Amino acid sequence: MNLRVDSKDTYDQFSKECLSNNFDFWMKRSRLFSWFKEPETVLTGEFSKGNIKWFEDGQLNITVNALDRHVKKNPDKIAIHWEPNDPAEPIKTFTYKEVLENVCKFANVLKDHDVKKGDRVCFYMSMVPELLFGVLACARIGAIHSVVFGGFSAKALSERINDCEASVVVTVNEGPRGNKTIPLEEITKEALETCKSVKHTFVLKRTNKKSSSEFKQLNGLLDSAGSECEPEVMNAEDPLFILYTSGSTGKPKGLLHTTAGYMTWAAETYKNVFQANDNDIFWCSADIGWITGHSYIAYGPMLNGSTQVMFEGIPTFPDAGRFWQVIDKYKVTHFYTAPTAIRALQACDERFVDQADLSSLKVLGTVGEPINEEAWHWYHTKIGKELCPIVDTWWQTETGGIMISSMAGITPSIPCQATTPLPGIVPELVDNEGRVIEEQEAEGNLCISIPWPGMARTIYGDHERYLQTYFSTYEGKYFTGDGAKRDLVGNYRITGRVDDVINVSGHRIGTAEVEDAINEHEQIVESAVIGFAHDIKGQGLFAFVIGDESKSDDDLLSSVNLEITKQIGPIAKLDGLVVVPGLPKTRSGKIMRRVLRKVHEGNLDQLGDTSTLLNPEVVEIIIKKMRK
Ligand code: WT7
Repeated sequence: MNLRVDSKDTYDQFSKECLSNNFDFWMKRSRLFSWFKEPETVLTGEFSKGNIKWFEDGQLNITVNALDRHVKKNPDKIAIHWEPNDPAEPIKTFTYKEVLENVCKFANVLKDHDVKKGDRVCFYMSMVPELLFGVLACARIGAIHSVVFGGFSAKALSERINDCEASVVVTVNEGPRGNKTIPLEEITKEALETCKSVKHTFVLKRTNKKSSSEFKQLNGLLDSAGSECEPEVMNAEDPLFILYTSGSTGKPKGLLHTTAGYMTWAAETYKNVFQANDNDIFWCSADIGWITGHSYIAYGPMLNGSTQVMFEGIPTFPDAGRFWQVIDKYKVTHFYTAPTAIRALQACDERFVDQADLSSLKVLGTVGEPINEEAWHWYHTKIGKELCPIVDTWWQTETGGIMISSMAGITPSIPCQATTPLPGIVPELVDNEGRVIEEQEAEGNLCISIPWPGMARTIYGDHERYLQTYFSTYEGKYFTGDGAKRDLVGNYRITGRVDDVINVSGHRIGTAEVEDAINEHEQIVESAVIGFAHDIKGQGLFAFVIGDESKSDDDLLSSVNLEITKQIGPIAKLDGLVVVPGLPKTRSGKIMRRVLRKVHEGNLDQLGDTSTLLNPEVVEIIIKKMRK
């Protein structure tokens, strides 16, 4: 019995069952896992007060469920096909038994260096198998992992290390990425100059480049470590990991996920949404540095005993056919990627697709941002040959796993719509005054009104900010920060962020974060950042800056981008900027980014009443400057 949603009727039945007896519904699902002590409680705490506990009295270890359980039944099943950045390099394959051994080795290295339950371990690596092993090794011994994406700068890394006071950092000498290599060890060295909490730093040798630091050499330590490690007994609500994401202030938020609830959600959502079977090959092209890589590489597929591809490279190296070649090579059945990647590849020569045999594909998925019609149809026709359902999965770092999505082959896919909530998820649309919109066909701010197991429990070290961000805008509900439209039969279309967060290539970037970085530039006094529609990236970043008007906007742009790269990382670079004498502000001093967005779009008739601004005259000047 796996309690999978296997028909439209089961979907309806489960959704109803969960609402009428949430306790029973989740209790049944908890019994699908292996526990040291099975839970008797399901949900405790008070959702509306941002205090949620799932399966609180249960005890378990998530890696027993992701590894040992499968090793017992099927030790030689392949867990990971690792595909290197350069296809000329050898691939690596790991069975479930081998993954468990590698995880135990890593866990023993950590233990030998005094890492204990509750300690924070930061990973700043490329997509090497050791990243996956390290993350699971933390879970094995109860340490809390915090993975920082390799595209962040030294400063961003040190902020994240310091925020959670990590005692261990793990990096690689360099990370191959297309025809570049990212000097991750060098960046870590720089970051550590301002980190006091770190006791041990490990470096994995990925390339031939000699290590340039005093860091402990991980390869040798792993080789000589013992391959068995007893799993730590964890309480259901013990922290599993921290993952940083952007918010509407400059400081990133460390979302904290706990053990049993996250496990249940990652496992259930993977199973129901993708509908992968025993012999299927799943491939999620995300990086483990983001939540997608946590839930649909490190945990979801592993908890379900699936075989998956882990890819180190990028979609366009050595050429724009790489994704399709990898699908062909491993006979991938389930492919999960971001709309940005789809749009970028759609713009390339069709022969890159035609050269590969994509007939193994059964299910396609998208995540991270709204997908446009054109890209959806191309993905459906050109990649899926009109045979594969597309699951457009809406969720967030905070939600731990997929929330609104069709279930492949079970509930219908509709172009550009996330469609319906998973069983147990109750979305609501709320207007700007906080009233729940009762009409079926409506548009509003997307909230979730009852708790689900996978939700983040707090912002590490700042529960007040957690309550403020998610539970104060609309009383008693979790506010997502997204807007959505609902149709007559209850399908949801996500329209995008309604807060000061911009979604660039599926990555969340806070306007305040970028503005703080720009303002560090010596020639800039103040700035306002907006998002604009971008053909490939979904949204691009544009800044209005007050500063040296003698320089050309282009010259300033490149030096501002250097500053941003230093402060945050290349992922937050601007696509354009304009120097202006002032920024439109309300009388209370708040920058009117909405007005700037309309000016940038050229929708001058939609500016609204600007006469109430503190400085209405600057709007005219900005309009003139933008025309040039
Ligand atoms: C934000 C969350 C979900 C994992 C990757 C990003 C946007 C996510 C969709 C989708 C439209 C989407 C939302 C959300 N988003 N999936 N299928 N359709 N928008 O996680 O970095 O936490 O970002 O991504 O705006 O709030 P994240």
